[in-house]
Amino acid sequence: MSATVPGPQGSGAGAPALVISGLGKRYGGVQAVDGISLELGPNERIGVIGPNGAGKTTLFKMIAGDVAPTTGTVELFGNDVTRTGTARRARMGVGRTFQVSNLFRDMSVIDNVRVAARGGSSKARIFWWPQLPTDDVSQRAGEALESVGLIDRRDDQVSDLSHGEQRQLEIAMALASEPKLLLLDEPAAGLSAAERTTLRQLIEELPRTLPILLIEHDMTLALGLTDRVMCMENGRHVVTGTPDEVREHETVKEIYLGRRDKK
Ligand SMILES: Nc1ncnc2c1ncn2[C@@H]1O[C@H](COP(=O)(O)OP(=O)(O)OP(=O)(O)O)[C@@H](O)[C@H]1O
Ligand SMILES: [Mg+2]
Repeated sequence: MSATVPGPQGSGAGAPALVISGLGKRYGGVQAVDGISLELGPNERIGVIGPNGAGKTTLFKMIAGDVAPTTGTVELFGNDVTRTGTARRARMGVGRTFQVSNLFRDMSVIDNVRVAARGGSSKARIFWWPQLPTDDVSQRAGEALESVGLIDRRDDQVSDLSHGEQRQLEIAMALASEPKLLLLDEPAAGLSAAERTTLRQLIEELPRTLPILLIEHDMTLALGLTDRVMCMENGRHVVTGTPDEVREHETVKEIYLGRRDKK
């Protein structure tokens, strides 16, 4: 456990899906992310935890290409993409869900997934919509819905789905682009206990060959679904280790259980 690049557990076969080195982002006077380094192995799942404002979403945005880092580098599948835009990174295989929902609420469930399957999870891509979906797109969209358990809701309007089902749909949309790396930003936010259980199962059942980076406030989920966990606070790295190591880490306990000494 250290602040330097922690290697994936039991790594061996294949290049890492993601390597970030010394990644930082400053917004005016706020150092949102401060020198974060991490390596995600080809079959690995890593949880990212930390209190509000820790820099987790900003870190994701730099990995996905929405935000240019002020320091450091991002490598995807062995390629330096630090200066590469979001669309190109998506085409390279970055699939993601957003902390704030990105669904077309007035469209049907299947049409949302078709838009994503055609290569865009961004709302800007709606301008592509007048094209008819190809068989391949429809097939991938159907398979993605099947894998999240929403195939029976395919023709319903998104606004008729429960909050939990909408979160499942967002994962289907990310899967429809056939990602090689999946970034999930608080997929369980706002879900009931029952919805969390469904979501947990869904993520557990995703292919182990798909590397995942999961931001999650729910410690049970974050630690239960991942091989390793990184904790951040105030933009900085606190610890990276196995779920057990992180659970027992003094600073993590202080952050999550409020046991910080007042000196
Ligand atoms: N576009 C922006 N402009 C200015 N400051 C920003 C911007 N985006 C994020 N920040 C600041 O950067 C810090 C990290 O924010 P970020 O959203 O990455 O945290 P987070 O760990 O995802 O928090 P949460 O758990 O609440 O989602 C915060 O202080 C936030 O206010
Ligand atoms: Mg966030």
